[in-house]
Amino acid sequence: MIIAIDGPSGAGKSTLGKMLAKELNLLYLDTGAMYRGVGLAVLDANVSFEDKARVAEIAENSDIKLIGEPENLQVFLDGKDVSARIRTNEVGQAASIVSAISEVRKILVEHQRNLGKNSPNGAVLDGRDIGSVVFPNADIKFFLTAKPEARARRRYEEDLEKQRATSYEQTFAEIKERDERDVSREDSPLMIAEDAVVIDTSELDLSEVFAQMMQVIQENSAKATSNLT
Ligand code: DC
Repeated sequence: MIIAIDGPSGAGKSTLGKMLAKELNLLYLDTGAMYRGVGLAVLDANVSFEDKARVAEIAENSDIKLIGEPENLQVFLDGKDVSARIRTNEVGQAASIVSAISEVRKILVEHQRNLGKNSPNGAVLDGRDIGSVVFPNADIKFFLTAKPEARARRRYEEDLEKQRATSYEQTFAEIKERDERDVSREDSPLMIAEDAVVIDTSELDLSEVFAQMMQVIQENSAKATSNLT
């Protein structure tokens, strides 16, 4: 089973993706973490984001691994644990910039497809283009969204908890900037796949969103079973 979860930053994709993967015993793939890994590698190499060929070369040669159970997934870049480093706003912006480069997307999309296909029970993937590009035939597609203010508030509270210095205003501005870039890029912009189930999480708590998603999955499985008989 392949479950796609797309949507803008801060809509709850990764928290809910992890919960679903755990509940359904599926692999959880945080595809944003891969773009963040490439963004960090470019920053560390001191390469200009304008130099697309070099950035693509870095994407090709970087060894990015997601290791561990969904609830404590660790991200490794060339053998080093970068789980904390990739979560800064600076790396978030870098990820958004490198993700607009087609060659980078080609490399990461192929990697994501292989990981999803080779997972014995299937996978939950969260990102921006999962239902539209990576797995257009996914069994279930969700598009999670929320008002920018709600998303910025969540990100800000997360940053406070992790003691990452920031302010609400700065987080809000960065979310808006990232949204703008993610929806306006030419290659695989953030969009709602035609057959996606859209959930606005602005006014819902996690357990409510989780319950809605599980209901969709159960209805879908029941339909698939009845189609077989
Ligand atoms: O989900 P996130 O905030 O960790 O993603 C970081 C950036 O990576 C985001 O600005 C857009 C990009 N991204 C993408 O273009 N495609 C994906 N499948 C996942 C993330």
